Amino acid sequence: MANLDLSQQIPLPANIPTEPEAFYRDFGPLRHPATRKPVLQLAPYQYDTWRKFLKHRRLLEVKSHRVGESSKWMLVDFHLAVLPSSNPLSTRGYDTMLLGPTKQQAIEILRDFRRRVLESRKYSPFIMDRPEEIDLLNDSISSGAVLRDEKSKTAALYIKNPESPLRPSRIIALGADNPGLLEGWPNFKHIHVTDITAARRDYKEALEIALTRIANTDGTAVIETIPGKPYGQVYEWAQRYRGIPESELKKGDFCYVEVTAEQAVAAGVMPGDFLEGERRRLTTADFNGLYGASFTSTTGNVFSSQAIERAIELGKKYNPEEIHHSAEKSQGIDEGFGSSMFGVVVVQKVDGLLVVTLAEEYERPDINKMAYEASQRIKTWPIETTQCDAAQPAFIKLLKTKVGENPDYASIPKEKHRFMRVKPITFGTEHREMLGNTALLVEKGWVAIHPNFAKLITALRTAVAEDYSLDKEATLHNDVLDAFRLALRPYAIKGRG
Ligand SMILES: Nc1ncnc2c1ncn2[C@@H]1O[C@H](COP(=O)(O)OP(=O)(O)OP(=O)(O)O)[C@@H](O)[C@H]1O
Ligand SMILES: [Mg+2]
Repeated sequence: MANLDLSQQIPLPANIPTEPEAFYRDFGPLRHPATRKPVLQLAPYQYDTWRKFLKHRRLLEVKSHRVGESSKWMLVDFHLAVLPSSNPLSTRGYDTMLLGPTKQQAIEILRDFRRRVLESRKYSPFIMDRPEEIDLLNDSISSGAVLRDEKSKTAALYIKNPESPLRPSRIIALGADNPGLLEGWPNFKHIHVTDITAARRDYKEALEIALTRIANTDGTAVIETIPGKPYGQVYEWAQRYRGIPESELKKGDFCYVEVTAEQAVAAGVMPGDFLEGERRRLTTADFNGLYGASFTSTTGNVFSSQAIERAIELGKKYNPEEIHHSAEKSQGIDEGFGSSMFGVVVVQKVDGLLVVTLAEEYERPDINKMAYEASQRIKTWPIETTQCDAAQPAFIKLLKTKVGENPDYASIPKEKHRFMRVKPITFGTEHREMLGNTALLVEKGWVAIHPNFAKLITALRTAVAEDYSLDKEATLHNDVLDAFRLALRPYAIKGRG
């Protein structure tokens, strides 16, 4: 083993500056993308946000495009990995998660950065880039094909660890589009999330998992992202943390910062005429979203924002957990056990309003558990009518059995369905009518939704449809919305055949 001591092959520099300015100078300058001249000093906001991160350990940065922050934060990731372990923020021997909207996007950023490190006279020796070195390590750290296989699917930058050569530090590129994959890594001490609001799907789960990954290591986190739409986790955190003065931040809080394109112009990072060109080219809302670090308000087209706000105001008047036993209730279930989620919504009729009392989404749930819980609600709350997506007969049979109905419902004529407590609904023929009906009920102010039901509210805010046919890619939490329209189906405003 002794002759595998990789640190002995090229001596690694030991004196690593801790101060941002000094480390940047030590590392070597970036090249300005327009002038190709070396950038001897980073912009003031680049050092400023760096220092705030070192102080508070968690930082949420809502930023403009092209202000140089991703490159700066990559440098910070690397800095932490080469700092000696005597520094509490050091990630030597640990992993850093670089989380992009997709893994491919994270890989691109990591590759770019790798090239930059290789240009650094002092720090390039830290890069472990010969495959045989890595193979050797994988074989010696843990035996078996698992790691080798993992490596082929992984994009990682290996950084030598002079304190423990067999435990290199790594920066690992991962994507928010596959949150399940984030769970498999036990050793993160820093996470760097980039442009997460550009993710096509809801990234909340990915962010949550990422943060749990650093709980054991008492790790640090940077989220740097364009603002995106005015909902979702980044928006919620921005609302929560922007108001907290730095001196009042507690452990676990994010220090909130904004970086606009105007700051980048002032610092010479972005050419001023480029920004002016963009200002002329884009609508004000789009310009502010891309360059002004402000959340754009493009929303869905099915529910008006006034109607959604009114439903939330009405919802605040009711305790969302209170079940009124004598109230009429309806449950909608959009069964999904694989790629789509399992959505459940229950409404109860109180004071003439349809008050949402459950709106949840489950990923790959157990079918028996879901059927059991639905049947318990039907029996104990009690719920008179439950509409399920007819496309999942196995679930419907199970639920019917549990509530004492004939599971052989295929033989029961349609006109008798109204006597069933568990009804199969054919989305294919009814989806438009149900969405139209849902929109009408919300528009009329007959629906109350407590702000706790954030997924349903996000679904309403983002719902995009053409001719009442829902665009599932554009609509966040569309499975909750499907359950919602199933729950509201009995309250059709127009007559139904
Ligand atoms: N202080 C600086 N002065 C000049 N150029 C810089 C500076 N900092 C970074 N750059 C360069 O600016 C370009 C954009 O950088 P980077 O990708 O980090 O920005 P960004 O804000 O993450 O942009 P986006 O995510 O929108 O692409 C890169 O070529 C980078 O090397
Ligand atoms: Mg970037």
